[in-house]
Amino acid sequence: MRNQPFPDRARVDAFDKVRGLTEYTADLQFRDLLYAMTVPAEIPKGTLEQLSVEDAMRVPGVVRVLTSDDFPPAPVVEEDGPPPPPPTLVTEIAYRGQPIALVLAETLEAAVAGADAVRARFSPAVFAGTMDAPGTKREASDEIKTGDAAAAFADATTVFEATYLSPTQHHNPIELLATTAVWAEGQLTIYESTQYSNGVRGNVARALGLDPSIVHVKCAYLGGGFGQKGAIQRQTALIAQAAILTGRPVKLVMPRGQIFHNATFRPMSRHRVRLGANANGKMIAALYDAEQQQSRTGTFPAADYHEATIRLYGIDNYMGTAADLRIDTQAPGYMRAPHPQASCFAFESAVDEMAYKLELDPLEFRLANDTRTDPKTGHPFSSRHLADCLREGARRFGWERRSPGARSMSLPDGTLVGWGVACGAYPSMTTPTVARLRIGADGRTRFQISGHEMGQGIRTAIAATLIEGLDIDPARLEIVIGDTSTVPQHITAGSWGTASVVPTAARAAQKLRSRIEELLAGRSIPGNLHRKLATVRRPSLEIEVTQLGPGQDASVLEGMPFGGYGVVGPEFPTFTCMSFIAHFVEVHVEPRTRRIRVPRVVSIADCGRVVSPRTAASQVRGGVVWAIGAALHEATEVDPRFGGYLNNDLADYVVPVNADIGDIDVGFIDQPDTLANSVGVKGLGEVAMVGASPAIANAIFHATGKRLRSLPIRVEHLLGA
Ligand code: MOS
Repeated sequence: MRNQPFPDRARVDAFDKVRGLTEYTADLQFRDLLYAMTVPAEIPKGTLEQLSVEDAMRVPGVVRVLTSDDFPPAPVVEEDGPPPPPPTLVTEIAYRGQPIALVLAETLEAAVAGADAVRARFSPAVFAGTMDAPGTKREASDEIKTGDAAAAFADATTVFEATYLSPTQHHNPIELLATTAVWAEGQLTIYESTQYSNGVRGNVARALGLDPSIVHVKCAYLGGGFGQKGAIQRQTALIAQAAILTGRPVKLVMPRGQIFHNATFRPMSRHRVRLGANANGKMIAALYDAEQQQSRTGTFPAADYHEATIRLYGIDNYMGTAADLRIDTQAPGYMRAPHPQASCFAFESAVDEMAYKLELDPLEFRLANDTRTDPKTGHPFSSRHLADCLREGARRFGWERRSPGARSMSLPDGTLVGWGVACGAYPSMTTPTVARLRIGADGRTRFQISGHEMGQGIRTAIAATLIEGLDIDPARLEIVIGDTSTVPQHITAGSWGTASVVPTAARAAQKLRSRIEELLAGRSIPGNLHRKLATVRRPSLEIEVTQLGPGQDASVLEGMPFGGYGVVGPEFPTFTCMSFIAHFVEVHVEPRTRRIRVPRVVSIADCGRVVSPRTAASQVRGGVVWAIGAALHEATEVDPRFGGYLNNDLADYVVPVNADIGDIDVGFIDQPDTLANSVGVKGLGEVAMVGASPAIANAIFHATGKRLRSLPIRVEHLLGA
């Protein structure tokens, strides 16, 4: 492919979306549909002793109520096998809000009324609702380290230590969790809003004891995923079983209040960071312990808090420890910028505090601690332009006009002004991908590939690559993704989507071009590829390509159709592949109310080549908006007496609105990573958010002189400052 910036292109799906034509899972229409509603457990832990469904069955329109008796026993977990699927309906209650029954009815209203009428008797057990409650169980993870941090602190002339807290937060995509299952002619088809169609397939098959080859999962569009829809949802197997037992299509759209209790979320985490610097202003030692809330059986890995922070700077001696505190909730999981959102808030706040302690400019201090090699492995980064991100961001932001002292900048009306900077990093990974490309003499092109469109713009990135590489009619290009009945699907998460599918699409284009050349055998035929095919009377041409990650073996493809996971990175045999970003933030703190505003942000990302400039910039803007939410608004409040979440709706779980967002200037370094893949793409979606929350906290310190180490930072924390 040519190595020039890709042109700006509109989203390929924008026109349909703004006209309301795009069909999301809950929009799909089915004949003879049954509506389902889950009945949530009213205790946080214990046993369901008795369930009465008679009242529910008397609600007009209610057809059936499923209970634990309607499900097979949990599958046996094999030692080297995949993790177990989520439980179906069971009588052991592990968290408040766990589904205990499923009501099926002719209308949504009847399903809701029926669910309200189910009566349950529980025998409750003692539970731990928060990280600091009695009854938690602490489990340490393996250390992530390099050098000898304990010894290196002896050589440090300046040491800084503090503890930071990131609260429990929940994903709130606009689109609710939605599943419709259809059982027909011995085949089960599941329409679900998911980032992991192959995983839904494999997990539902195992939960219900079905042959996975009869299960098909389809998801053409998601209305936001963010990692919540990368998890295997609790409701999916319930809805599938309901469809099998009734022989009718069954649909559930989970109410937001139940999503708060059943879906994965960002766990609360506490971070103790100790940094040591020498007299030259170089960080030489870091000791960082992270602990997080975890469910009793959850697997969201605590050690991953170190994956970005150990690679942000050239700190030769780093000791990273981590632990889970197991309590009685549903399992936490991946939520945009999963670990680095919290870990970089802590680490980049501490780095800022260290800069102030050394009386160094926070920007210069960061530049002085840059590195070309990954401290964890000693290998070079495949590409790293973090210093360029910092310099370009500083230039656009006007950083040289900053006065260094805290509380030293203000507006004529007394508004305190603060300028802060912070960096982010995120692993750049890749998954094996299979694609099938077919071009027709009739003017049509169909491209089947693995992937899921969450709104991040993967369809647009694929289209840009194909249009760049093939002379085809862009208006008649059909991109088929998220469908297990085409090519094997992968989980689309961890920002590996574009870096995986775009090189595959480029390769497919290349292969098709050489097939056409073979076909024409030197003849020069005018017109685009469709015309050429028509001229030589060839109705269509189809090719298939498979792309593996660096160093991967084709055997990784075997399990993929049923949920297998073939992701590699960020550590490759000879290099480490990370994406980077620098954020510059201005905050205004109103002099009387202490209301915090973020009038402008400059964010410069190093994500390798930018294939789709418009959607890439939107990704970064969205990440910054969410970081503003995470820094200033969002926290899920746990009820310590009864378990569960108190603010489980969008009225009380506060997220930013338009009025909270000012100017967000996004820039890219746009340099190809020549080691990552043939197109030079690295991940972007997650890194976009990383580092923006600490940049806000650092700016608040610069404005007010008050260092706030717990998120979210709200008006009440600045009163008196
Ligand atoms: Mo992402 S939080 O891995 O969808």
